[in-house]
This record gives sequence, structure tokens and C-alpha cells, in this order.
Amino acid sequence: MTKQFAVIGNPIEHSRSPELHHAFAEKTGVDLQYAKLLAPLDGFEQAVQAFFADGGVGMNVTVPFKEQAFALCDALSERAKIAKAVNTLYRQNGKLIGDNTDGQGLVDALKANGLDLNQATILIIGAGGATRGVIYPLAQAGVAKISIANRTLARAEQLINDIQAHVPNCELSALSLDQLQNEANAQFDIVINATSASLSGDTLQLPESLTFNFAYEMAYGKASTFIDQAIARGMPYADGYSMLVGQAIEAFAIWNGVRPELKDFISV
Ligand code: ATR
Repeated sequence: MTKQFAVIGNPIEHSRSPELHHAFAEKTGVDLQYAKLLAPLDGFEQAVQAFFADGGVGMNVTVPFKEQAFALCDALSERAKIAKAVNTLYRQNGKLIGDNTDGQGLVDALKANGLDLNQATILIIGAGGATRGVIYPLAQAGVAKISIANRTLARAEQLINDIQAHVPNCELSALSLDQLQNEANAQFDIVINATSASLSGDTLQLPESLTFNFAYEMAYGKASTFIDQAIARGMPYADGYSMLVGQAIEAFAIWNGVRPELKDFISV
């Protein structure tokens, strides 16, 4: 029987998830349909209940419902608990289970770009939901140090307070963007832009003193001054499309028990 999946959000028209999951299904021979579901802003829970009552197998959750999905679940994966957000839903023994595949999507995207995360040092710029979702999976992948630089320092400090105890082998530290500008020898293997600056067309100025081997922009499909600066320095970089595909593959594997190869769906 054809398995039914959907991505739920508001807005939802732009979502690439159906085309990705249909491509994975074709590659792996899974029989599925994957739809876009526009939920009213006050109707998320009802839409989820109706989808599963109709026999739906799994759902992806996108903006602005990831926190509501987190609150709705009967059980959560460890990484979803730490992220405080859910992007993947399914049912098990009548219970609604929530997971978060965004961070593993980033880990797999970085690896697909040829990066070794074991003992790596990473600078993440931004301390919002996108950053919260990726710290634990990066630490699980062996990253030794993560510095979080944020415009509002207190937000980065709060994030570290919440998460450090869950990642004892990864040293987290917080700094403000101003401190980053004045850091004389800031050196990292990877720098990740997890701010929404490129989404709103804002410029993110990287200090001259900052050195790195690879730049990853979590956003995709938008002009990014962050990527422009990596290019100007002659450094390798990638945008968030590979993370998008990576999180979709992780959800597909949870639901269908078979894992498509990320490299078959991105160009690196
Ligand atoms: P998301 O869920 O995508 O992480 P968010 O929780 O709204 O979205 O967080 C947005 C992040 O981008 C924050 O770290 C924000 O910095 P503040 O905490 O200081 O607000 C950062 N951000 C947004 N626009 C920015 C800009 N123009 N320059 C620097 N940081 C910016």
C-alpha cells in the first residue's frame, strides 16, 4: 500500500520536501506519496491529528510549527529534547513520536563536503533555533570545540547554559559579534552562518583576523554576504541545500528503514 507522508507549515508553497522524498522513493523503491499541508496558524494540532487519523505514516514540520510539534509529542528523541523543536513526526504503538533531523542533516552535509568533524573546531554565528538544533549532533560527531558568536551575547550564553551538560566532550563558549571583531587570532576549522541575516538581506561582516578552512551558510537560495566573503578569501564553502537534503534523508531513513546516499542528491 502507498505510504502517505506530508510536510506541514505556514507558508508551505516553497517547500522542496515533496520533490526530495519522491526522489528518494524512486531511488530506493519505496511506495509513497508526500504532500504539502498548509495549516492555519491556530490549527496545527488539529491538522496533525487529522493526518494521522487518516492513516498518515510520517510528517515533517516546518516554520512556524517546530516548537508546537515539540510540545504536542508523547515521546521525544534525545536530540529533539535538546533542540526543543521537532521537525519529524510519526506514530509508534499509538503514541506520537517527535524527532529532530536538522542537526544530523548538517553533520552529513559537512561530511559530504569532505570535512572531518572528529576533534574539529567550529565557530557558529547566531544563537537562535537553528543553532540550538545542531550543537548536540555536532558534538556527537566528535567536534571538540564550538564557539557561538551572537549579536546579543546573552542569548548565546543562555544556549550554552542549556546545552553544555548534554555535550561533556565538546567545549562550548559564547562571544558577542563585537568581541569576534576584536579577537586577534580567531582560528577555526569551520565557520557556520546560522543567523537569519541573509534571509533578511542583511550584511554579516566577518573580521579580517578570522581564519577558517570551510564556510557553511545554513540558508540557501538567497544571496549571502557570508558566502561572498568566503569566496573573496578563496575558501571552500557550501550553502544550506545539502543540510536540507541531509535532514530529509534522515527523516526518510527513520520512517522507511532505508537510507539514500546524500551524495546522490547534492553536487559537491
Ligand atoms: P532561527 O530559528 O532561524 O535561528 P531566530 O531564532 O529568530 O531564527 O534567530 C535568528 C538569529 O540570527 C539570532 O542569532 C539573531 O541574532 P540576535 O539573537 O542578536 O537577534 C541573528 N541575526 C538576525 N539578523 C542578524 C543580523 N543582521 N546580524 C547579525 N545577527 C543577526
